[in-house]
Amino acid sequence: MEMKKVFLPEREIPRQWYNIQADMPTPMQPPLHPETKKPIAPEDLAPIFPMNLIEQEVSTQRWIDIPEEVLEKYLIWRPSPLQRAIALEKYLGTPAKIYFKNESVSPAGSHKPNTAIAQAYYNKIFGIKRLTTETGAGQWGCALSLACSLFGLECKIYMVKVSYNQKPYRQLLMKTWGGNCVASPSSDTAYGRKVLAEDPDCTGSLGIAISEAVEDAVTSENTRYSLGSVLNHVMMHQTIIGLEAQKQMEMINEYPDVVIGCVGGGSNFAGLSFPYVRDKIYGKEIRIIAVEPAACPTLTRGPFAYDFGDTAAMTPLLPMFTLGHNFLPEPIHAGGLRYHGVSPLISQLVLDELIESQSYNQVQTYEAGLIFARTEGIICAPETNHAIAAVIEEAKKAKEEGVARTILFNLSGHGMLDLTGYDSFLEGKLTEYSLPDEEIKKAIKVLESYPKPEIVTKK
Ligand SMILES: Cc1ncc(COP(=O)(O)O)c(C=O)c1O
Repeated sequence: MEMKKVFLPEREIPRQWYNIQADMPTPMQPPLHPETKKPIAPEDLAPIFPMNLIEQEVSTQRWIDIPEEVLEKYLIWRPSPLQRAIALEKYLGTPAKIYFKNESVSPAGSHKPNTAIAQAYYNKIFGIKRLTTETGAGQWGCALSLACSLFGLECKIYMVKVSYNQKPYRQLLMKTWGGNCVASPSSDTAYGRKVLAEDPDCTGSLGIAISEAVEDAVTSENTRYSLGSVLNHVMMHQTIIGLEAQKQMEMINEYPDVVIGCVGGGSNFAGLSFPYVRDKIYGKEIRIIAVEPAACPTLTRGPFAYDFGDTAAMTPLLPMFTLGHNFLPEPIHAGGLRYHGVSPLISQLVLDELIESQSYNQVQTYEAGLIFARTEGIICAPETNHAIAAVIEEAKKAKEEGVARTILFNLSGHGMLDLTGYDSFLEGKLTEYSLPDEEIKKAIKVLESYPKPEIVTKK
């Protein structure tokens, strides 16, 4: 019988996160103040985030110790298993070996608690009593509710309305962990009320929900905002995934030729891939592929520009690939991938050609998800299915070329609460939509008046 799972003993859990800013060939360009458009100082972020996390955001220290209290909570489900998709390999008749990190085993069902727990901890020791956030598909809101309950903080979640209506059980999970979840746009904030006055039927977007959560944080006492993706410290907290994977692959004398992950804001992809990007920077031959929806093709078709992280233009301007902060993606089922921008760290690594990007339409991703569910048994989140579509394509290519490649991907979450999407696919209701060029041109017009980042690359 072939080996199916690799478990890392608890005592071997990585004790430091990896900060890729220490090794990037091209240094990051600074975020800009939303009003002055000048580089922001750490103090400018203090009304939004606690200073200990701001310090991590700007740190260039290679390794950052994971606090004991955070490790203790990680041990609830970590180290997560490294698994081999043998039945999928057989189904595809590929000589490729397919491995995945199973992040769906966390209590919230995804990779998101890796940073939620860290953020709740740092806020708690900074004296913060309440956190606000946004959530798309509901995975992040669940993760933060869980983390806040573990550290005794209050939690308010603005959930994108289209997902709020599609995923009632996610709301119930948040409530069970003690979180207060409302549909965004909501009447709880001035910005939400403004959006509703202009369009009472607005289905919401991550950008709008972020604006509401930030407004709530800066106008409420003892409250800070928590972001589940995009920012540097979030990417760093997620590197526990890739650091564990490296140890587990070493235990079976394997090293991947290709690393794949889906990308919304970029955190699960960064988490698995950044330790491998480091290897690549120092000379390893490895392909690293970021996969996104054809309905929201930020990395594959957006420009690299300074843009706001939210729709109300309250956050700093970040240097990133973006479709413009007013862009409202189609309500595809992969709610967590409906974001106009992407992590500045990933953006720079794409410019440096250390990371490749690909996109798939919704039908292709559900086809892949269904094959995975019917071979490996796991029903994945619609976001994860994007990674699986790319994995299947790579495995087929290996077959055509007759090469026994090793593929590693991130199974970022399960889809047990996302079954309406599977139902729509099985009923033939989904279309092969990709965002038309004219829509992109319209959406990125807003960027024209902003300062332009330099396009610096060390190819
Ligand atoms: C299961 C799952 N995968 C991926 C994502 C995309 O986010 P990120 O790019 O930050 O990993 C989400 C976001 O909600 C998610 O829930």
